[in-house]
Amino acid sequence: MSENLLEVRDVRKSFRVPHAGKNKLCALDGISLDLARGETLGLVGESGCGKSTLARTLMMLERPDAGTVRFDGVDPFTLAGAELLKFRSRVQMVFQDPYASLNSQMSAAEIIAEPWRSHKGLIKNRQDRDMRVRGLLDLVGLGAKAAD
Ligand SMILES: Nc1ncnc2c1ncn2[C@@H]1O[C@H](COP(=O)(O)OP(=O)(O)OP(=O)(O)O)[C@@H](O)[C@H]1O
Ligand SMILES: [Mg+2]
Repeated sequence: MSENLLEVRDVRKSFRVPHAGKNKLCALDGISLDLARGETLGLVGESGCGKSTLARTLMMLERPDAGTVRFDGVDPFTLAGAELLKFRSRVQMVFQDPYASLNSQMSAAEIIAEPWRSHKGLIKNRQDRDMRVRGLLDLVGLGAKAAD
C-alpha cells in the first residue's frame, strides 16, 4: 500500500486554441502535489488558472502532455478492463455546472444512486442503496426532495 493516496509530479497540459496558430494555451505548467489518505486538499485560484483541468486529469478525463499521476501507487493511465473499472469506482468528480453534468429528467435520488447502479459490486442490495441515498439527502436537508 502506497504511503500517499495521490502523487502528482510535474504534470503539464496545453490546449490548442483557435486563432493561436502553433501557440498552445498552457493550462497546467508543472503541477506537483501529494495527498495522504484521509487528507483534504482545497485548490484555490482565479478563473482559468487550471483547477478543473487538473481535476479532469486526475480523473483520467484529460491525458497529461507530461508528468505522472499515481493513485494508490499506480498510474491510472496504465489501467484497463476490471482494474480501470475499480479505479473509476474509487474516484468521483462533482462537476461545477449542474445544467451540463446532471440529467434534469432524473430525480435527486436517482442521480445520487447512479454510480452505485453502474458499479454494482459496491452496494449489492437495492434496499441498502436506497437507504444510503436517503441518508445522504437527509444529511444535507434534502430528504423531502428525494423524488424531485
Ligand atoms: N478543452 C479545452 N480546450 C481549450 N482550452 C481549454 C480547454 N479546457 C480548458 N481550457 C483552458 O485552460 C485554462 C484553464 O481552464 P480551467 O477550466 O482548468 O480553469 P479553472 O481554474 O477551473 O477556472 P474556473 O475557476 O473558471 O472554473 C483556461 O484558459 C481554459 O480556457
Ligand atoms: Mg473550473
